[in-house]
Amino acid sequence: MGLLNSVEMFKKAYDGGYAIGAFNVNNMEIIQGITEAAKAENAPLILQVSAGARKYANHTYLMKLIEAAIIETDLPICVHLDHGDTFELCKSCIDGGFTSVMIDGSHLAFKDNIALTKQVVDYAHAQKEYITVEGELGRLAGVEDDINVSAEDSSYTDPNDVEEFVKSTGVDSLAIAIGTSHGAYKFKGEAKLRFDILEEVSKRLPGFPIVLHGASSVIPEYVDDINKYGGEMPGAKGVPEEMLRKAASMAVCKINIDSDIRLAVTATIRKYFSENPSHFDPRQYLKPARDEIVKLVSNKLVNVLGCNNKA
Ligand code: G3H
Ligand code: 13P
Ligand code: ZN
Repeated sequence: MGLLNSVEMFKKAYDGGYAIGAFNVNNMEIIQGITEAAKAENAPLILQVSAGARKYANHTYLMKLIEAAIIETDLPICVHLDHGDTFELCKSCIDGGFTSVMIDGSHLAFKDNIALTKQVVDYAHAQKEYITVEGELGRLAGVEDDINVSAEDSSYTDPNDVEEFVKSTGVDSLAIAIGTSHGAYKFKGEAKLRFDILEEVSKRLPGFPIVLHGASSVIPEYVDDINKYGGEMPGAKGVPEEMLRKAASMAVCKINIDSDIRLAVTATIRKYFSENPSHFDPRQYLKPARDEIVKLVSNKLVNVLGCNNKA
């Protein structure tokens, strides 16, 4: 199947009322765990790489690991830049073989966001193989790389802006802010998402794929294990699975998940060491962590995103 952009994936997801999982990757075990699950469930897949992941693992290493995963699984995989913040970063990922990029100008004034996003779209769409571009309107709270957006600085997407943004930039998909946030501490009290905003946006953009960031459920079992085995994450809380299922049945075609994978790895390794304090071979603790990723991602693909058997 090979590497591909997100055009067909999103079209099918929109029409089928399901969403594609976009999982952040940082190393070999994470790529193996996610792709093994997608293979088992016969699911289309987006593997996304943040600037921080690229700095940590190196562009070429990540690209070659993803190419290896395609050889092993024969799945359709889209390799996507997550939260690109400059034209140069997007260009470098496109030139280096990514099939999709996000340009995140959500912190800029509306006109500046349009200008930057359009610059990336013009470059991406002019490539021999069409590269898809995701833009963002509205601002999520939480932490990405070293940028910390406080709840006060976050803002919901204004549905009045979306048509002009999509028309003037030519983006292929749009990330919107409806109350999710990045990281493991998403809600203080009850989880609330503004489905009315999603509904209004999809009315203004019929048939257009919407993206939901900050969509980890912050699985309570992992948080419990982390707290039980020496960690400290009181109050960690994520997006309930039924809300994600509802979003996937609406115009949301891409659901971004990173924190749940981090929690799965950390909970598994903490537990492993508490039960095997004398072990020191990384393979011994990375293997159960990788196995846990397979379990987690399989559950997401089948029970949350509904994209199993859609590859
Ligand atoms: O939205 C951000 C993703 O969770 C990536 O996080 O920038 O720490 O790699 P990162
Ligand atoms: P989470 O922190 O909820 O996993 O969100 C990830 C994300 O939005 C990546 O862009
Ligand atoms: Zn994000």
